[in-house]
Amino acid sequence: MGIKRVAVSGYQEMSDRAALLVIQRIKEKPDLVLGLATGSTPLGLYERLVESYQQGETDFSQVATFNLDEYCGLSKNHPQSYQYFMDKHLFSLVNIDCRQVHFPQENDGLDKYEQKIKDTGGVDVQILGIGRNGHIGFNEPGSAFTSRTRVVDLTDVTIKDNARFFARPEEVPRRAVTMGLATIMDAKEILLLASGASKASVVERLMTEKQSVDVPASILWGHPKIMLIVDKEADGN
Ligand code: F6R
Repeated sequence: MGIKRVAVSGYQEMSDRAALLVIQRIKEKPDLVLGLATGSTPLGLYERLVESYQQGETDFSQVATFNLDEYCGLSKNHPQSYQYFMDKHLFSLVNIDCRQVHFPQENDGLDKYEQKIKDTGGVDVQILGIGRNGHIGFNEPGSAFTSRTRVVDLTDVTIKDNARFFARPEEVPRRAVTMGLATIMDAKEILLLASGASKASVVERLMTEKQSVDVPASILWGHPKIMLIVDKEADGN
């Protein structure tokens, strides 16, 4: 138990380290089940996975994926939807079978998402970024450690952070579907990535404060196999 912290120089090294681990896991288990995050943090990781595929090094044909979250009210073709993001940065660029790609959907039955994850054998490696307020997925502060896939209201901090991706602030969705904290903890292995000065204060809270719902990511202290890859700017230590 406990978060294994790996300190790296910068975003590039963080992405390289994360990609090496994922590539290794796909080698060990070609039908790996990956839990995926969107946002700026894992972009470098996805770029390296694409490179590895293009170099004939990694085969995604049997890989299955489950994304952590999706906005409510955006169609999957909306450029800010997480499905669009994943297609653009990973799925359309590798040989993944689109029938093996999964997103939580408000209208799709949220228990069904949990069941689908179970039926696939569970998430082998979960990729996570962290919000400035400690959220993982869209599990905002106050989310129960027992929470499962559900619809949530986004906090003002998160809405503000996301506003940069939308033309007008009022276009930013207020609700999202997210895997719960307990859903995330079911993953066999977790890779938490943090980069940049804006994450320094939350990383410090995560590493020094007692586990609490105020910092949802602190639930990860109870996971048997969790690695935090943190770059210099995000690392207060
Ligand atoms: C996105 C997600 C979020 C982000 C977090 C950090 O699928 O689950 O929890 O990981 O908001 O976002 P970035 O990486 O943009 O700083």
